[in-house]
Parts: sequence; C-alpha cells; structure tokens
Amino acid sequence: MSTAVARCFVSLFFILDCTNGFMGNEDALRRKVSLELNPGLKPPSTAPPGVNLLHVRAVGDNDTLHILLCSLGAPAVLLVHTNSTESSVHVDWAAFLSHNYSGSIQMAPKSSVQYSSALVFTRVWEYDDVNNTADPQDLPDSSFLQPYELQNFTWADLNKSVDYTHHTAQLCGRESSAVFSNGSFCLNFSAFESHGREEAWPSLLHNANSSQLRVWLDHMTPRTNKSRFALELHAVSEEGFQNRVDVHRSIDDEYTPSIFQVSQWMFPSANSTSASTQGYIQWKPVAYRKPMPVLEDATPCRHSQPVHLPQAPPSGLVLAYFTQQASTHGLNLSFSMAGDLFYSSTSFLSWTVLVGIGSPPADFFSLLVIVIMAVGLGTPLTLILVGGVYVCIQKKKQDSVAYESIN
Ligand SMILES: *[C@@H]1O[C@H](CO)[C@@H](O)[C@H](O)[C@H]1NC(C)=O
Ligand SMILES: *[C@@H]1O[C@H](CO)[C@@H](O)[C@H](O)[C@H]1NC(C)=O
Ligand SMILES: *[C@@H]1O[C@H](CO)[C@@H](O)[C@H](O)[C@H]1NC(C)=O
Ligand SMILES: *[C@@H]1O[C@H](CO)[C@@H](O)[C@H](O)[C@H]1NC(C)=O
Ligand SMILES: *[C@@H]1O[C@H](CO)[C@@H](O)[C@H](O)[C@H]1NC(C)=O
Ligand SMILES: *[C@@H]1O[C@H](CO)[C@@H](O)[C@H](O)[C@H]1NC(C)=O
Ligand SMILES: *[C@@H]1O[C@H](CO)[C@@H](O)[C@H](O)[C@H]1NC(C)=O
Ligand SMILES: *[C@@H]1O[C@H](CO)[C@@H](O)[C@H](O)[C@H]1NC(C)=O
Ligand SMILES: *[C@@H]1O[C@H](CO)[C@@H](O)[C@H](O)[C@H]1NC(C)=O
Ligand SMILES: *[C@@H]1O[C@H](CO)[C@@H](O)[C@H](O)[C@H]1NC(C)=O
Ligand SMILES: *[C@@H]1O[C@H](CO)[C@@H](O)[C@H](O)[C@H]1NC(C)=O
Ligand SMILES: *[C@@H]1O[C@H](CO)[C@@H](O)[C@H](O)[C@H]1NC(C)=O
Repeated sequence: MSTAVARCFVSLFFILDCTNGFMGNEDALRRKVSLELNPGLKPPSTAPPGVNLLHVRAVGDNDTLHILLCSLGAPAVLLVHTNSTESSVHVDWAAFLSHNYSGSIQMAPKSSVQYSSALVFTRVWEYDDVNNTADPQDLPDSSFLQPYELQNFTWADLNKSVDYTHHTAQLCGRESSAVFSNGSFCLNFSAFESHGREEAWPSLLHNANSSQLRVWLDHMTPRTNKSRFALELHAVSEEGFQNRVDVHRSIDDEYTPSIFQVSQWMFPSANSTSASTQGYIQWKPVAYRKPMPVLEDATPCRHSQPVHLPQAPPSGLVLAYFTQQASTHGLNLSFSMAGDLFYSSTSFLSWTVLVGIGSPPADFFSLLVIVIMAVGLGTPLTLILVGGVYVCIQKKKQDSVAYESIN
C-alpha cells in the first residue's frame, strides 16, 4: 500500500515536472561568459577616471553575443550578435578618448555581425506634480524642471565593482557640479550564462541571450515639494525599432507580487527586411521605493509612446560603434499613480529592465501554481469521476436487476 502511494507521488511529480518543463519554456542554451574591462587598452595607457568600457563575451556553440557597457557620456549598453565564436572587439583608444568617435569601436570580422542594438539612459526628468496625478503627460511643460543630463554626470570607476565570477558590475554617477542635488544615478549590470530568475524583485526571468540592468535614483534632492522623477531612454539599432511597446498579460505574479503585466519593446520594426534576428527590451511595469522592498514599496510605472528621434544619443559607445544609418527611438518612463507618496518619502526609486536577442523570456505557471491548480481542480474532478463511475455501476446493477425482474 505505502509503496503504491509512494509510486503514485513519484509519478505525479514526474508529470508536474514535465509540464513545468514544457510550459516553463525551459531553455537549455548556455554561453561561456567572460568579462574584460577596457579591452585592448595596454598599460601604461589608462582610461581617464570615470571612463569605463566593460566588454562581456558570451560564447555559444556557433555564435557570440558581445555586450558592452560604457560610461563615456550617457550610460549605455550595446548588444552585438555575431555568427562566429572567434569574433572580437577592437577599440581605437586614442580616437575614442579624444572624442573622435566615429568607427573607433568595431567588431572583427565585420561580416560576422548579425545584429546590433543599444539602450542608453539619457536623462532624468523632474516634474512638479501639483495635482498629484502622477501622469506627466497631463502636465504643461512648465511643470518640468531642467532635466539631469546623464552625459554630464561623473561616473565612478567600474574596476572597483566588476565581479568577474558572477558577471556583474555596478556603475554609479553624480552630477558633476552638484547644482541641483547630491543624489546619484546608479545601475547594476548582470550578464547570464544560462536560463534563470533573479531573486530580487521584480524577479525577471533571463536567459543566456539577455542581460539585466537595474537602475536607481538615490537621495536626489527634490526641487519642489511635490517632485516626481521620470527616466528618458533611447534605443538605437540599424534595423529600427517598433514604434510601440506591447503590454502582455502575465499569468503568474508569484515572483513579482501584484504585477500581472510585462512590457516589451521589440526590434527590428515590422517593415525591416532582415527580421531573422530580433531583439527586445523587456520590463515589468513596476518600480520600488526602497532598496530592499516590501509590497507597500512597489509602485506602478508607465511609458510614453516611443518616438523617432533625429539624433543619436550622447553616448561615446553609440557614436563610436554605429557609423551607418542607425535609427534612434526614445521614450519616457514615469513612476507612481495618482495619490501616491512623492519621491521625497523614501528618496529612492529603482527600476529593472532586461535587454536581449531572440525571443523574450516568458512567464508560465510555476510548479507551485500547477500543484495548487491540480489540487484545486483535480480533487472535485476526481470526485466527479469517481462519483460518475459509482453512479454508473449502481445504475448498471439496477438495470440488470430490472431486466432480470422483467424476465
Ligand atoms: C581603477 O582604475 C583607476 C584608473 O582608471 C586606478 O587609478 C585604480 O587604481 C584602479 N582601481 C583598482 C582597484 O584597480
Ligand atoms: C552549429 O552549427 C552546426 C553546423 O552548421 C549545426 O549543425 C548546429 O545545429 C549548430 N548549433 C547550434 C546550437 O546552432
Ligand atoms: C579621427 O579618426 C580618423 C580615423 O581614425 C582619422 O583619420 C582622423 O584624422 C581623426 N581626426 C582627428 C581630428 O583626430
Ligand atoms: C556569417 O554571416 C555572414 C553574413 O552575415 C555570412 O557571409 C557568413 O558566411 C556567416 N558565417 C558563418 C560561419 O555562418
Ligand atoms: C490642477 O488642478 C486645478 C484645479 O482642478 C487646475 O485648474 C490646474 O490646471 C491643474 N494644474 C495642473 C498642472 O494640471
Ligand atoms: C551638459 O553637457 C552639455 C555638453 O557638454 C552642455 O551643453 C549642457 O549645458 C550640460 N547640461 C547641464 C545641465 O549641465
Ligand atoms: C551637496 O553637498 C554639499 C556638501 O555636503 C552641500 O554644501 C550642498 O548644499 C549639497 N547640495 C545639495 C543640492 O543638496
Ligand atoms: C547592486 O549590486 C550589488 C552587488 O551585487 C548589491 O550589493 C546591491 O544590493 C545591488 N543594488 C541594488 C539596488 O539592487
Ligand atoms: C514647501 O512646503 C513648505 C512647508 O509646507 C512651504 O513652506 C514651502 O513654501 C513650500 N515650497 C514650495 C516651493 O512650494
Ligand atoms: C518603415 O516604413 C515606414 C513607412 O514606409 C518608414 O517611414 C520607416 O522609415 C520604415 N522603418 C524602417 C526601420 O525601415
Ligand atoms: C520626455 O518627457 C519630456 C518632458 O515632457 C519631453 O520634453 C521629452 O521630449 C520626452 N522624451 C521622449 C523621448 O518622449
Ligand atoms: C538565443 O540566441 C540564439 C542565437 O541567435 C538562438 O538560436 C536561440 O534561439 C536564442 N534563444 C532564445 C531563448 O531566444
């Protein structure tokens, strides 16, 4: 009896495991990830303080994903997918550092490049939310204060924070003149070898084709009594970007409590001819007001409609890498909802985004949810089945009794 029960449980878990495997879109791709700071910069040459170029090589079976994080100008991350495991990055440091950007960062061989795109954090907007609507699109221009230009921030040296084993780095910057504020804009960068999920909220899924950026605004000095902040992002690609952000329902909020949506900005645009590889920027529409958040510190975020911009963003990396007709799109992210506390309540705001190539990771029902569903739906179903069979047998018996009596 007990072995039968045990066998039953084993097979139940086997079935659950299989469904989780199928439904969870388990992705077996692994890449060999290595990090290098300032590639090709040979001593005694050094980068000036605050200029960092982190190169991540993520080598697959037949391909390499190069990820570059750079703080020359506005902080930027560039993804380059090549169809070779031998491709490499070449930086002409003399030209790059003298702001003679064009062509100073290249991939070799050039023909191996399949796809490139960049995400740049350009500005932090501050606005006076007098009527506490938290919707900057309703506000007149006069409500917006002079923005913080992230290109003018002074960045800390990455060499203190790069973790070569866990493939992470932290980049922090301050406004050089500290005219408005002594606050900082920081980002935590992570690259991944394989499929997984970050522990810290919003616990985004990731895979070996993606990397994650968590950005936060710490101790900004609000310039009005009802200040809120918004973040301006620019995305650059030779293929163009879709001029909309898709918001998908996410069925599972187990990992990001109270958030049932995921926002995706896909590229290339629909009318691009070479749509063989696609990239994405994915986030959950939530921000957190504390570094170690509890549910009450979660606040929604919304995006403005992406717009085409005539100029490339002020990032040394983007200006150095994209030499041809790259197109730039931008959008603003704003945080909180009407009636919410203002930024000054915690003086902290963090938001997390995933950039990658291929198809964006998708949440599926987790094992816990499946077990709950199995118990919740399975028990009544079993009862109905067992009851049905019982009723059938009884009926058969009665029928045969009835036939017998007729006979
Ligand atoms: C980081 O780089 C700077 C120069 O860019 C150098 O002065 C400093 O010693 C380096 N720090 C470490 C920990 O390597
Ligand atoms: C790598 O390339 C070989 C030969 O072109 C192909 O058979 C194999 O499926 C490729 N592997 C992956 C993971 O794409
Ligand atoms: C900029 O770089 C290009 C090619 O690397 C070079 O031909 C040109 O002389 C440089 N210009 C300046 C002002 O350094
Ligand atoms: C890589 O792609 C280029 C075209 O983009 C092609 O010419 C080349 O043969 C490809 N290399 C491999 C190893 O598949
Ligand atoms: C705030 O609300 C008042 C009254 O409803 C309105 O007159 C004013 O235009 C609003 N201000 C802004 C900036 O929306
Ligand atoms: C930021 O830097 C640019 C170029 O160096 C300069 O034109 C602009 O005035 C600066 N903005 C601020 C707010 O300091
Ligand atoms: C920034 O810090 C300095 C020194 O601590 C202080 O004098 C200055 O007032 C601060 N500025 C702002 C905008 O808080
Ligand atoms: C950023 O990363 C560092 C090192 O991994 C970690 O200690 C810190 O908590 C992270 N910060 C945030 C806001 O996630
Ligand atoms: C901010 O609030 C304080 C106290 O409520 C008030 O004295 C001050 O005038 C307000 N400042 C602005 C810019 O509204
Ligand atoms: C897509 O097509 C539209 C209209 O034909 C054009 O204006 C736009 O530039 C195209 N986008 C790209 C990335 O080619
Ligand atoms: C972001 O918002 C500011 C203020 O409304 C606006 O000036 C700017 O054009 C917006 N940027 C984008 C990319 O929509
Ligand atoms: C990751 O990228 C590789 C190379 O383009 C592709 O074959 C694979 O399907 C991608 N995986 C996912 C989950 O997008």
